[in-house]
Amino acid sequence: MAPTMAAINNATNPVSDFSDFVLTKGHGVKGLSETGIETLPNQYIQPLEERLCMTKIVPENAIPIIDLSDPNGTGVADAICNAAERWGFFQIVNHGVPLQVLENAKEATRRFFGLPAQEKNKYSKDNSPSNNVRYGTSFSPQAEKALEWKDYLSLFYVSHDEASALWPAACRDGLLEYMRKSEAVVKQLLKVLMEKLNVTEIDKSKEDLLMGSRRININYYPICPNPELTVGVGRHSDVSTLTILLQDDIGGLYVRDLQDNSWIHVPPVKGSIVINVGDALQIMSNGRYKSVEHRVVANGSKNRISVPIFVNPRPHDIIGPLPESLASGEQPIYKQVLYSDYVKHFFRKAHDGKGTVDYAKI
Ligand code: OGA
Ligand code: NI
Repeated sequence: MAPTMAAINNATNPVSDFSDFVLTKGHGVKGLSETGIETLPNQYIQPLEERLCMTKIVPENAIPIIDLSDPNGTGVADAICNAAERWGFFQIVNHGVPLQVLENAKEATRRFFGLPAQEKNKYSKDNSPSNNVRYGTSFSPQAEKALEWKDYLSLFYVSHDEASALWPAACRDGLLEYMRKSEAVVKQLLKVLMEKLNVTEIDKSKEDLLMGSRRININYYPICPNPELTVGVGRHSDVSTLTILLQDDIGGLYVRDLQDNSWIHVPPVKGSIVINVGDALQIMSNGRYKSVEHRVVANGSKNRISVPIFVNPRPHDIIGPLPESLASGEQPIYKQVLYSDYVKHFFRKAHDGKGTVDYAKI
């Protein structure tokens, strides 16, 4: 039975009750939200500078929406590369992933989070049979001073067989189908982005370096009693090569505008997929393509879900500026780093904006 709010806000021992309910028992913030909680627990109160001040939002600005119905059409490749250089983010429509596949992935996500806490908690850090399957809340509760208002399930893809054996049945098929059906458009985007860096052929070893491993996350941002005091996800850039993100129709994802530092909303567009450049591609392109800071606000009236696929180098890959992108004599601004070290560095700290990439700076 869910404890009452009196138990959670119990003045004598709020933290232990809170962490038992949210973290240990696996109710997460979804469980907290569903108790009807009326005030945000202190653990979620973010410092002022981390809250999104609506005056910093420039509503008329927007990231590009690129139509891929004729991917070889005039201007499409330029639009993709320009968006990756100028914004680090764009949306794609008519991308070849059937609408039903996108709907099924969202349905799979809702089904997983709709499970009782004790079912979801079978995949927590302490209980999961594999490190490749992890249910949790916030980003890195041990490293964070203030928690984020989000629950997640993170699935590192090894093989279809492993996924069949280990991923929760509630969401497995819908997510695997989405991963499989989106592979072609990911390859197409990388091909276009690589051509601008003078990489004319993506052979097997290049393909492994760019997209040799993949992780799919499902995120749940429940209704929040004081959304203005906290965040759904704090400022960060992704450590991926590319991230392809499916969001529902609620909205709340904001992207930093590189030109004036303001925040731009990424509006939900029916049937679209949001694409963003991650740190690995920023490093491999020697800074040409931008891995841009983004964040998610909490919502006071609606539950939101999202489904990012992080297309990554493999953990044992060494990443650095690609030789082709330096062929014209450009000086490298990043060194060669082991990708798993880079990712470890990301997870060791709380979300801190663009801080991660400094790890690879020369
Ligand atoms: C992420 C992320 C955005 C969203 O998971 O890295 O930025 O809209 N998610 O959920
Ligand atoms: Ni992100």
